[in-house]
Amino acid sequence: MVIVLILGSLAFLSGHAESSFATKRGWVQEQPVPFSHEHHVAGLGLDCRYCHASVENSAHAGFPPTHTCMTCHSQLYTDASELAPVRQSMAKNLPIRWNRVSALPDYVYFNHSIHIDRGIACVECHGRVDRMPITFRAKPFQMEFCLGCHRDPAPHLRPPNMTTVMDWGDWQEKHPEYGAEAMAAHNIEPEKLVSCTTCHR
Ligand code: HEC
Ligand code: HEC
Ligand code: HEC
Ligand code: HEC
Ligand code: HEC
Repeated sequence: MVIVLILGSLAFLSGHAESSFATKRGWVQEQPVPFSHEHHVAGLGLDCRYCHASVENSAHAGFPPTHTCMTCHSQLYTDASELAPVRQSMAKNLPIRWNRVSALPDYVYFNHSIHIDRGIACVECHGRVDRMPITFRAKPFQMEFCLGCHRDPAPHLRPPNMTTVMDWGDWQEKHPEYGAEAMAAHNIEPEKLVSCTTCHR
Protein backbone atom coordinates (compact mmCIF):
# COMPACT_ATOMS: atom_id res chain seq x y z
CA MET A 1 0.00 0.00 0.00
CA VAL A 2 2.82 2.38 0.91
CA ILE A 3 4.51 1.60 -2.39
CA VAL A 4 1.31 2.27 -4.26
CA LEU A 5 1.05 5.65 -2.57
CA ILE A 6 4.67 6.59 -3.25
CA LEU A 7 4.39 5.58 -6.88
CA GLY A 8 1.09 7.36 -7.12
CA SER A 9 2.69 10.62 -6.06
CA LEU A 10 5.65 10.06 -8.39
CA ALA A 11 3.20 9.55 -11.20
CA PHE A 12 1.44 12.72 -10.18
CA LEU A 13 4.68 14.73 -10.14
CA SER A 14 6.15 13.44 -13.39
CA GLY A 15 2.86 13.36 -15.20
CA HIS A 16 0.99 16.35 -13.94
CA ALA A 17 3.72 18.90 -14.63
CA GLU A 18 3.38 18.38 -18.38
CA SER A 19 -0.08 17.02 -18.73
CA SER A 20 -2.71 18.51 -20.94
CA PHE A 21 -6.28 17.34 -21.25
CA ALA A 22 -6.37 17.77 -25.02
CA THR A 23 -3.07 16.14 -26.00
CA LYS A 24 -2.72 13.56 -23.21
CA ARG A 25 0.92 14.61 -23.01
CA GLY A 26 2.21 13.48 -19.65
CA TRP A 27 -0.56 10.89 -19.44
CA VAL A 28 0.13 8.17 -16.85
CA GLN A 29 -1.77 4.89 -16.47
CA GLU A 30 -2.03 2.73 -13.38
CA GLN A 31 -0.02 -0.47 -13.98
CA PRO A 32 -0.31 -3.96 -12.48
CA VAL A 33 3.41 -3.78 -11.58
CA PRO A 34 5.24 -0.48 -10.90
CA PHE A 35 7.82 -1.02 -13.67
CA SER A 36 10.59 1.62 -13.87
CA HIS A 37 12.40 2.33 -17.14
CA GLU A 38 14.73 4.59 -15.17
CA HIS A 39 15.97 1.59 -13.14
CA HIS A 40 16.03 -0.94 -15.94
CA VAL A 41 17.34 1.24 -18.80
CA ALA A 42 19.49 3.99 -17.22
CA GLY A 43 20.38 1.92 -14.13
CA LEU A 44 20.98 -1.56 -15.56
CA GLY A 45 21.79 -0.50 -19.12
CA LEU A 46 19.24 -2.76 -20.86
CA ASP A 47 18.56 -1.93 -24.52
CA CYS A 48 14.95 -1.20 -25.52
CA ARG A 49 14.95 -4.22 -27.86
CA TYR A 50 15.69 -6.59 -24.98
CA CYS A 51 12.05 -6.10 -23.98
CA HIS A 52 10.41 -4.55 -27.06
CA ALA A 53 11.84 -7.18 -29.35
CA SER A 54 9.57 -6.77 -32.37
CA VAL A 55 10.03 -3.00 -32.78
CA GLU A 56 12.47 -3.33 -35.68
CA ASN A 57 10.54 -5.80 -37.80
CA SER A 58 6.86 -5.32 -37.10
CA ALA A 59 4.22 -2.62 -36.82
CA HIS A 60 4.13 -3.10 -33.04
CA ALA A 61 6.91 -2.72 -30.50
CA GLY A 62 5.01 -5.07 -28.18
CA PHE A 63 5.44 -5.72 -24.47
CA PRO A 64 7.89 -8.23 -23.00
CA PRO A 65 6.66 -11.72 -22.16
CA THR A 66 6.77 -12.57 -18.45
CA HIS A 67 9.74 -14.89 -18.82
CA THR A 68 11.86 -11.88 -19.88
CA CYS A 69 11.25 -10.38 -16.42
CA MET A 70 11.79 -13.74 -14.74
CA THR A 71 15.24 -14.10 -16.32
CA CYS A 72 16.31 -11.84 -13.47
CA HIS A 73 13.40 -11.85 -11.05
CA SER A 74 13.42 -15.59 -10.46
CA GLN A 75 16.60 -14.75 -8.48
CA LEU A 76 16.24 -11.05 -7.65
CA TYR A 77 13.55 -9.57 -5.39
CA THR A 78 11.85 -12.96 -5.25
CA ASP A 79 9.75 -12.00 -2.18
CA ALA A 80 8.90 -8.44 -3.23
CA SER A 81 5.16 -7.85 -3.07
CA GLU A 82 5.23 -5.47 -6.05
CA LEU A 83 6.46 -8.40 -8.16
CA ALA A 84 3.65 -10.76 -7.05
CA PRO A 85 1.67 -10.16 -10.29
CA VAL A 86 4.78 -11.18 -12.30
CA ARG A 87 5.09 -14.45 -10.34
CA GLN A 88 1.36 -15.13 -10.71
CA SER A 89 1.50 -14.47 -14.44
CA MET A 90 4.33 -16.99 -14.74
CA ALA A 91 2.61 -19.61 -12.57
CA LYS A 92 -0.74 -19.27 -14.37
CA ASN A 93 0.77 -18.79 -17.81
CA LEU A 94 -1.30 -15.65 -18.36
CA PRO A 95 0.27 -12.46 -19.76
CA ILE A 96 0.53 -9.35 -17.58
CA ARG A 97 -2.00 -6.78 -18.78
CA TRP A 98 -0.10 -3.50 -19.15
CA ASN A 99 -2.15 -0.37 -19.64
CA ARG A 100 -1.28 1.69 -22.69
CA VAL A 101 -0.16 5.32 -22.60
CA SER A 102 0.52 5.77 -26.31
CA ALA A 103 -2.34 4.25 -28.31
CA LEU A 104 -3.61 5.89 -31.53
CA PRO A 105 -7.24 5.80 -32.70
CA ASP A 106 -8.09 2.81 -34.95
CA TYR A 107 -8.45 4.94 -38.07
CA VAL A 108 -4.75 5.88 -38.02
CA TYR A 109 -2.22 3.49 -39.52
CA PHE A 110 1.17 3.39 -37.82
CA ASN A 111 4.17 1.12 -38.22
CA HIS A 112 7.26 1.05 -35.99
CA SER A 113 9.56 -0.93 -38.24
CA ILE A 114 9.71 1.59 -41.10
CA HIS A 115 10.53 4.42 -38.69
CA ILE A 116 13.32 2.41 -37.04
CA ASP A 117 14.64 1.22 -40.40
CA ARG A 118 14.92 4.81 -41.68
CA GLY A 119 16.57 5.95 -38.46
CA ILE A 120 13.90 7.71 -36.38
CA ALA A 121 15.00 7.24 -32.76
CA CYS A 122 12.61 6.12 -30.01
CA VAL A 123 13.30 9.37 -28.15
CA GLU A 124 11.71 11.41 -31.00
CA CYS A 125 8.27 9.99 -30.21
CA HIS A 126 8.55 8.67 -26.65
CA GLY A 127 10.87 11.20 -24.99
CA ARG A 128 13.47 10.37 -22.33
CA VAL A 129 12.05 6.99 -21.35
CA ASP A 130 15.31 6.29 -19.50
CA ARG A 131 14.34 9.03 -17.02
CA MET A 132 10.84 7.71 -16.33
CA PRO A 133 10.28 5.97 -12.98
CA ILE A 134 6.77 5.46 -14.25
CA THR A 135 5.97 5.52 -17.96
CA PHE A 136 4.06 8.48 -19.33
CA ARG A 137 3.21 9.87 -22.76
CA ALA A 138 5.87 12.42 -23.66
CA LYS A 139 4.47 13.64 -27.01
CA PRO A 140 0.95 14.64 -28.06
CA PHE A 141 0.44 12.03 -30.87
CA GLN A 142 -2.04 14.32 -32.57
CA MET A 143 -2.04 14.61 -36.36
CA GLU A 144 0.08 17.75 -36.28
CA PHE A 145 2.82 15.95 -34.34
CA CYS A 146 3.16 13.33 -37.09
CA LEU A 147 2.89 15.88 -39.92
CA GLY A 148 5.49 18.17 -38.36
CA CYS A 149 8.13 15.54 -38.99
CA HIS A 150 6.67 14.11 -42.21
CA ARG A 151 6.94 17.54 -43.86
CA ASP A 152 10.69 17.69 -43.16
CA PRO A 153 12.18 14.49 -41.74
CA ALA A 154 15.84 15.29 -42.56
CA PRO A 155 16.85 16.84 -39.20
CA HIS A 156 15.34 13.81 -37.39
CA LEU A 157 17.21 11.05 -39.21
CA ARG A 158 19.92 9.07 -37.36
CA PRO A 159 21.92 5.92 -38.09
CA PRO A 160 19.28 3.14 -37.88
CA ASN A 161 21.44 0.84 -35.73
CA MET A 162 21.54 3.57 -33.05
CA THR A 163 17.86 4.43 -32.76
CA THR A 164 17.59 3.20 -29.15
CA VAL A 165 20.17 5.78 -27.98
CA MET A 166 18.33 8.26 -25.74
CA ASP A 167 20.79 11.17 -25.43
CA TRP A 168 22.06 12.48 -28.77
CA GLY A 169 23.83 15.54 -27.35
CA ASP A 170 25.44 17.57 -30.16
CA TRP A 171 25.42 14.68 -32.64
CA GLN A 172 23.50 16.70 -35.19
CA GLU A 173 25.93 19.62 -35.11
CA LYS A 174 28.75 17.19 -35.73
CA HIS A 175 26.95 15.51 -38.64
CA PRO A 176 25.20 18.36 -40.49
CA GLU A 177 25.00 16.46 -43.80
CA TYR A 178 23.61 13.19 -42.48
CA GLY A 179 19.91 14.06 -42.83
CA ALA A 180 20.03 15.12 -46.48
CA GLU A 181 22.17 12.10 -47.38
CA ALA A 182 19.79 9.68 -45.68
CA MET A 183 16.79 11.30 -47.40
CA ALA A 184 18.45 10.67 -50.76
CA ALA A 185 19.70 7.17 -49.88
CA HIS A 186 16.20 6.00 -48.86
CA ASN A 187 14.44 8.04 -51.50
CA ILE A 188 12.20 9.70 -48.89
CA GLU A 189 9.60 12.00 -50.42
CA PRO A 190 7.84 14.40 -48.02
CA GLU A 191 4.96 14.99 -50.51
CA LYS A 192 3.98 11.33 -50.16
CA LEU A 193 4.46 11.33 -46.40
CA VAL A 194 1.91 14.11 -45.87
CA SER A 195 -0.72 12.63 -48.17
CA CYS A 196 -3.86 11.58 -46.28
CA THR A 197 -3.73 7.95 -47.43
CA THR A 198 -0.29 7.41 -45.86
CA CYS A 199 -1.91 7.35 -42.42
CA HIS A 200 -5.63 6.93 -43.20
CA ARG A 201 -6.03 3.83 -45.38
C1 HEC B 1 13.27 -4.70 -18.87
C2 HEC B 1 12.29 -4.52 -19.91
C3 HEC B 1 12.16 -3.20 -20.64
C4 HEC B 1 13.14 -2.43 -21.26
C5 HEC B 1 14.63 -2.69 -21.30
C6 HEC B 1 12.46 -1.33 -21.89
N1 HEC B 1 11.11 -1.42 -21.66
FE1 HEC B 1 9.66 -0.17 -22.35
N2 HEC B 1 8.25 -1.18 -21.30
C7 HEC B 1 8.47 -2.32 -20.55
C8 HEC B 1 7.25 -2.69 -19.86
C9 HEC B 1 7.08 -3.86 -18.91
C10 HEC B 1 6.27 -1.74 -20.24
C11 HEC B 1 4.80 -1.68 -19.77
C12 HEC B 1 4.71 -0.94 -18.44
C13 HEC B 1 4.95 0.53 -18.55
O1 HEC B 1 4.26 1.20 -19.34
O2 HEC B 1 5.87 1.02 -17.88
C14 HEC B 1 6.93 -0.81 -21.14
C15 HEC B 1 6.29 0.27 -21.74
C16 HEC B 1 6.90 1.12 -22.66
C17 HEC B 1 6.25 2.21 -23.34
C18 HEC B 1 4.79 2.62 -23.15
C19 HEC B 1 3.94 2.07 -24.29
C20 HEC B 1 2.47 2.26 -24.10
O3 HEC B 1 1.77 2.44 -25.09
O4 HEC B 1 1.98 2.18 -22.96
C21 HEC B 1 7.17 2.81 -24.12
C22 HEC B 1 6.95 3.99 -25.04
C23 HEC B 1 8.42 2.11 -23.93
N3 HEC B 1 8.23 1.09 -23.04
C24 HEC B 1 9.61 2.45 -24.55
C25 HEC B 1 10.84 1.91 -24.22
C26 HEC B 1 12.10 2.43 -24.72
C27 HEC B 1 12.23 3.59 -25.68
C28 HEC B 1 13.09 1.66 -24.17
C29 HEC B 1 14.59 1.83 -24.33
C30 HEC B 1 15.11 3.16 -24.03
C31 HEC B 1 12.43 0.66 -23.33
N4 HEC B 1 11.08 0.86 -23.38
C32 HEC B 1 13.09 -0.33 -22.62
C33 HEC B 1 9.66 -3.01 -20.45
C34 HEC B 1 10.88 -2.55 -20.90
C1 HEC C 1 18.48 -7.87 -16.46
C2 HEC C 1 17.78 -8.16 -15.23
C3 HEC C 1 16.35 -7.66 -15.05
C4 HEC C 1 15.28 -7.84 -15.90
C5 HEC C 1 15.25 -8.52 -17.25
C6 HEC C 1 14.14 -7.24 -15.22
N1 HEC C 1 14.52 -6.70 -14.02
FE1 HEC C 1 13.33 -5.73 -12.71
N2 HEC C 1 14.94 -5.31 -11.52
C7 HEC C 1 16.21 -5.76 -11.75
C8 HEC C 1 17.09 -5.20 -10.73
C9 HEC C 1 18.61 -5.42 -10.60
C10 HEC C 1 16.28 -4.40 -9.89
C11 HEC C 1 16.70 -3.50 -8.73
C12 HEC C 1 16.93 -2.14 -9.35
C13 HEC C 1 17.25 -1.06 -8.41
O1 HEC C 1 16.82 -1.08 -7.25
O2 HEC C 1 17.90 -0.11 -8.88
C14 HEC C 1 14.91 -4.54 -10.41
C15 HEC C 1 13.81 -3.95 -9.81
C16 HEC C 1 12.50 -4.17 -10.20
C17 HEC C 1 11.32 -3.72 -9.47
C18 HEC C 1 11.32 -2.99 -8.14
C19 HEC C 1 11.13 -1.52 -8.34
C20 HEC C 1 12.36 -0.92 -8.95
O3 HEC C 1 12.30 -0.59 -10.14
O4 HEC C 1 13.38 -0.81 -8.25
C21 HEC C 1 10.23 -4.09 -10.21
C22 HEC C 1 8.77 -3.85 -9.87
C23 HEC C 1 10.73 -4.78 -11.39
N3 HEC C 1 12.11 -4.82 -11.35
C24 HEC C 1 9.91 -5.29 -12.38
C25 HEC C 1 10.39 -5.89 -13.56
C26 HEC C 1 9.54 -6.33 -14.65
C27 HEC C 1 8.04 -6.19 -14.69
C28 HEC C 1 10.37 -6.85 -15.60
C29 HEC C 1 9.98 -7.40 -16.96
C30 HEC C 1 9.27 -6.48 -17.84
C31 HEC C 1 11.74 -6.76 -15.09
N4 HEC C 1 11.71 -6.16 -13.86
C32 HEC C 1 12.86 -7.21 -15.77
C33 HEC C 1 16.63 -6.58 -12.78
C34 HEC C 1 15.86 -6.95 -13.87
C1 HEC D 1 7.65 7.88 -35.21
C2 HEC D 1 7.23 7.77 -33.85
C3 HEC D 1 7.66 6.58 -33.05
C4 HEC D 1 8.92 6.04 -32.93
C5 HEC D 1 10.20 6.46 -33.61
C6 HEC D 1 8.82 4.95 -31.97
N1 HEC D 1 7.52 4.84 -31.54
FE1 HEC D 1 6.79 3.51 -30.22
N2 HEC D 1 4.88 4.16 -30.55
C7 HEC D 1 4.55 5.20 -31.39
C8 HEC D 1 3.11 5.27 -31.51
C9 HEC D 1 2.35 6.27 -32.35
C10 HEC D 1 2.57 4.24 -30.71
C11 HEC D 1 1.11 3.87 -30.55
C12 HEC D 1 0.81 2.88 -31.67
C13 HEC D 1 -0.61 2.42 -31.82
O1 HEC D 1 -1.48 2.73 -31.03
O2 HEC D 1 -0.84 1.66 -32.80
C14 HEC D 1 3.73 3.56 -30.10
C15 HEC D 1 3.62 2.49 -29.22
C16 HEC D 1 4.73 1.90 -28.60
C17 HEC D 1 4.65 0.85 -27.61
C18 HEC D 1 3.39 0.19 -27.08
C19 HEC D 1 3.20 -1.18 -27.72
C20 HEC D 1 2.95 -1.12 -29.20
O3 HEC D 1 3.61 -1.88 -29.93
O4 HEC D 1 2.08 -0.35 -29.66
C21 HEC D 1 5.95 0.56 -27.23
C22 HEC D 1 6.40 -0.47 -26.20
C23 HEC D 1 6.84 1.40 -28.02
N3 HEC D 1 6.06 2.20 -28.84
C24 HEC D 1 8.22 1.35 -27.95
C25 HEC D 1 9.08 1.98 -28.87
C26 HEC D 1 10.52 1.76 -28.95
C27 HEC D 1 11.32 0.83 -28.05
C28 HEC D 1 11.00 2.54 -29.96
C29 HEC D 1 12.40 2.65 -30.51
C30 HEC D 1 13.10 1.40 -30.86
C31 HEC D 1 9.84 3.26 -30.51
N4 HEC D 1 8.71 2.87 -29.84
C32 HEC D 1 9.89 4.18 -31.56
C33 HEC D 1 5.44 6.04 -32.02
C34 HEC D 1 6.79 5.81 -32.17
C1 HEC E 1 10.43 12.31 -36.20
C2 HEC E 1 9.91 12.00 -37.52
C3 HEC E 1 8.62 11.25 -37.66
C4 HEC E 1 7.52 11.29 -36.84
C5 HEC E 1 7.32 12.07 -35.55
C6 HEC E 1 6.53 10.43 -37.44
N1 HEC E 1 7.02 9.87 -38.59
FE1 HEC E 1 6.04 8.55 -39.81
N2 HEC E 1 7.66 8.43 -41.02
C7 HEC E 1 8.85 9.11 -40.84
C8 HEC E 1 9.81 8.68 -41.84
C9 HEC E 1 11.24 9.18 -42.01
C10 HEC E 1 9.16 7.69 -42.62
C11 HEC E 1 9.76 6.86 -43.76
C12 HEC E 1 9.52 7.51 -45.07
C13 HEC E 1 10.04 6.73 -46.27
O1 HEC E 1 10.91 5.90 -46.13
O2 HEC E 1 9.52 6.98 -47.36
C14 HEC E 1 7.80 7.57 -42.08
C15 HEC E 1 6.83 6.74 -42.61
C16 HEC E 1 5.55 6.62 -42.12
C17 HEC E 1 4.51 5.82 -42.72
C18 HEC E 1 4.63 5.01 -44.01
C19 HEC E 1 4.73 3.56 -43.67
C20 HEC E 1 4.67 2.66 -44.85
O3 HEC E 1 4.64 1.46 -44.63
O4 HEC E 1 4.65 3.15 -45.99
C21 HEC E 1 3.39 5.95 -41.93
C22 HEC E 1 2.06 5.28 -42.13
C23 HEC E 1 3.73 6.84 -40.85
N3 HEC E 1 5.06 7.24 -41.00
C24 HEC E 1 2.85 7.22 -39.86
C25 HEC E 1 3.18 8.08 -38.82
C26 HEC E 1 2.24 8.48 -37.78
C27 HEC E 1 0.81 8.06 -37.68
C28 HEC E 1 2.94 9.32 -36.94
C29 HEC E 1 2.46 10.01 -35.70
C30 HEC E 1 1.89 9.20 -34.65
C31 HEC E 1 4.29 9.43 -37.47
N4 HEC E 1 4.39 8.68 -38.61
C32 HEC E 1 5.28 10.19 -36.89
C33 HEC E 1 9.11 10.04 -39.86
C34 HEC E 1 8.29 10.36 -38.78
C1 HEC F 1 1.45 11.31 -40.78
C2 HEC F 1 0.17 10.76 -40.49
C3 HEC F 1 -1.06 11.49 -40.91
C4 HEC F 1 -1.35 12.05 -42.13
C5 HEC F 1 -0.46 12.13 -43.35
C6 HEC F 1 -2.70 12.55 -42.04
N1 HEC F 1 -3.22 12.30 -40.80
FE1 HEC F 1 -5.12 12.70 -40.18
N2 HEC F 1 -4.66 11.97 -38.31
C7 HEC F 1 -3.45 11.46 -37.94
C8 HEC F 1 -3.49 11.14 -36.52
C9 HEC F 1 -2.34 10.56 -35.71
C10 HEC F 1 -4.78 11.46 -36.06
C11 HEC F 1 -5.34 11.24 -34.67
C12 HEC F 1 -5.40 12.53 -33.91
C13 HEC F 1 -5.83 12.39 -32.47
O1 HEC F 1 -5.97 11.29 -31.93
O2 HEC F 1 -5.98 13.45 -31.88
C14 HEC F 1 -5.50 11.98 -37.22
C15 HEC F 1 -6.83 12.42 -37.20
C16 HEC F 1 -7.54 12.84 -38.31
C17 HEC F 1 -8.95 13.22 -38.30
C18 HEC F 1 -9.87 13.17 -37.08
C19 HEC F 1 -10.14 14.53 -36.53
C20 HEC F 1 -8.95 15.20 -35.98
O3 HEC F 1 -8.53 16.23 -36.57
O4 HEC F 1 -8.38 14.75 -34.97
C21 HEC F 1 -9.27 13.60 -39.57
C22 HEC F 1 -10.63 14.07 -40.06
C23 HEC F 1 -8.07 13.50 -40.37
N3 HEC F 1 -7.04 13.03 -39.57
C24 HEC F 1 -7.98 13.83 -41.70
C25 HEC F 1 -6.80 13.85 -42.44
C26 HEC F 1 -6.70 14.37 -43.82
C27 HEC F 1 -7.85 14.94 -44.61
C28 HEC F 1 -5.39 14.21 -44.19
C29 HEC F 1 -4.74 14.65 -45.50
C30 HEC F 1 -4.79 16.06 -45.78
C31 HEC F 1 -4.69 13.58 -43.06
N4 HEC F 1 -5.58 13.40 -42.04
C32 HEC F 1 -3.36 13.21 -43.07
C33 HEC F 1 -2.36 11.25 -38.76
C34 HEC F 1 -2.25 11.65 -40.07
